[in-house]
Amino acid sequence: MELCLADVLGDHALDGEITRPQNLMQAMRHGALDGGKRLRPFLLLESATLFNAESPAVIRIAAALECVHCYSLIHDDLPAMDNDDLRRGKPTVHKAFDEATAILAGDGLLTLAFDMIASPQTVLAEAVKTALISALARAAGPGGMAGGQSLDLAAETTPPDESGIVTLQAMKTGALIRFACEAGAIVAGATADERSRLAEFGAAIGLAFQLADDLLDLTADPALLGKATGKDLPAGKATLVRLHGADWAHRQLAGLVAQASELLEPFGDKAAILRQTARFIADREM
Ligand code: IPE
Ligand code: IPE
Ligand code: MG
Ligand code: MG
Ligand code: MG
Repeated sequence: MELCLADVLGDHALDGEITRPQNLMQAMRHGALDGGKRLRPFLLLESATLFNAESPAVIRIAAALECVHCYSLIHDDLPAMDNDDLRRGKPTVHKAFDEATAILAGDGLLTLAFDMIASPQTVLAEAVKTALISALARAAGPGGMAGGQSLDLAAETTPPDESGIVTLQAMKTGALIRFACEAGAIVAGATADERSRLAEFGAAIGLAFQLADDLLDLTADPALLGKATGKDLPAGKATLVRLHGADWAHRQLAGLVAQASELLEPFGDKAAILRQTARFIADREM
């Protein structure tokens, strides 16, 4: 996945492209290479493995998903959004370059992601590609991540109730994680029941992931986390940790992990790594 990502972010123009400006490519590489937990591509590859569907094409889909995630982080850190200077232990893209370049680097990563799925180099049935493109677009777009980010900003001035927070988190963070888990089932042409099980698993661990992120903002060491902490409270971010406290959040995390594990019951031991990942998400310290 790392090699694939580095390869698609090279300076060399593809067929149909005119040239790739070096400064823009450097910014895209800064935002996407050498860093991050790579959780979403990991989940995608594991969900494909669950259905015996590992292939070079799946690695390209995983890299495409990571591009969408990295774009979301670059834009999330902009002064107009969370205004952060540090990401993955490095200066954020708008700090290392400038704001306009960071916006364009995000645009470039998002667009490239769909190119990677559609490309003839991704050897999959056309119907599978279309299904992946559609599911990723819906996870990333106005009814998914981008919409969730919009609700997240609105919540700074008009605090939502509990269900409003759950919805915004399911969108801003949950949707891409859910897609990661569902994608393996899409690639494998799994049954509708299997696909929705994986999607539900993804939704549960997606909520857990943001709950853990909100806890870490409160408690973690910024040096270990690679990003600033203690920002959500002063920024007026609407989080469940803020609403119910850290003890409640820990109990809730345990519940979500149990629920996620149960969803994978029918897959037996084959789903052991995905179950373990759910636990990692809840217990993570970075
Ligand atoms: C951070 O995601 C943004 C959230 C959705 C909370 P990650 O914690 O997965 O960030 P990286 O990819 O490891 O840097
Ligand atoms: C970001 O949530 C979610 C997306 C980037 C879509 P946060 O704003 O809480 O993420 P961090 O804490 O900056 O990583
Ligand atoms: Mg944010
Ligand atoms: Mg942020
Ligand atoms: Mg956060």
